[in-house]
Amino acid sequence: MSSAEIAVQVFRKLENEDLRVLQVIETAMSKHGFVPKEMIAKFTKFSLEETDFRLGRLGKFRLIRRMKGAYVGYSLNYAGYDCLAINAFVKAEVLEAFGKSLGVGKEADVYDALNPKSERIAVKFHRLGRISFRQTIRKRGYTTEHTGWLFQSRLAAEKEFQALKLVFQHGVAVPEPISQNRHVLVMGMIEGAELAEYKEIPEPKKVLKEILRNIRKAYLKASVVHADLSEYNVILKPDMHILIIDWPQYVTKEHPNAQQLLTRDVENILRFFRRKHMMKAELEENLAYVTGTGKMAI
Ligand SMILES: Nc1ncnc2c1ncn2[C@@H]1O[C@H](COP(=O)(O)OP(=O)(O)OP(=O)(O)O)[C@@H](O)[C@H]1O
Ligand SMILES: [Mg+2]
Repeated sequence: MSSAEIAVQVFRKLENEDLRVLQVIETAMSKHGFVPKEMIAKFTKFSLEETDFRLGRLGKFRLIRRMKGAYVGYSLNYAGYDCLAINAFVKAEVLEAFGKSLGVGKEADVYDALNPKSERIAVKFHRLGRISFRQTIRKRGYTTEHTGWLFQSRLAAEKEFQALKLVFQHGVAVPEPISQNRHVLVMGMIEGAELAEYKEIPEPKKVLKEILRNIRKAYLKASVVHADLSEYNVILKPDMHILIIDWPQYVTKEHPNAQQLLTRDVENILRFFRRKHMMKAELEENLAYVTGTGKMAI
């Protein structure tokens, strides 16, 4: 069972006292790694008996980890951290109920969900630490030391939310950013599938043009480069229009590697259309188009 599945299932069973203990562990963890029971009792103002009872429940729900070393201490795992974020969304009336999982991947779990108005939303739980640490540094740049996966995942969600807000307001085709808490992002639900999954696209030229127009808009209007663009992060909707997803590693135009990353983004997309759809697409002239120094060349 994935962490999100655990969280989604047990969340409704949690009482305020359980959430209070999770919150105290979260706060104290940043300093102590593993938090001793006495400290949890002190900050929750619960008796040691009550604290024991709560820790027992949270352990049974698989929301915390217990470590026995020089002392016995507790820390949150992803499912515990998920519950705190879910609780914040429920209180803020952003989230009402979970539906099915849309995908458990290397770096994120995405869920179909409903808000209190019964509108569909997508909930993305960032999960850094599933791939190697070195790979994460290479991909994301901002990981300088091992400050813990929960914290790194929170940074990723914050960055992605920021990117979505920046580009969405300029009309780039992305899911609507709705809310973010800790390592979790709530956005508009989209129908469709990754471009890579389509065996055949009726009008590939039209689709490629639309992708390039959106790369250009993000770059020229929002000063944002996606930096992990490929056929896996473009969703093709049933109406054959596209949306670009998965933005946590974005950089701004001013970033020292911005040009290099933009070139790679464009080349990844062009390569896909050359290979899969036999299209002619030169890097130079398309790069000129997206940077505003040339006309659409497709
Ligand atoms: N707003 C959304 N609405 C519907 N489905 C979504 C949405 N965002 C993401 N998804 C689905 O979840 C998948 C993974 O999302 P995303 O690419 O943002 O995360 P990721 O970090 O690449 O995760 P993974 O490591 O699993 O590939 C997407 O390919 C898509 O199928
Ligand atoms: Mg992705």
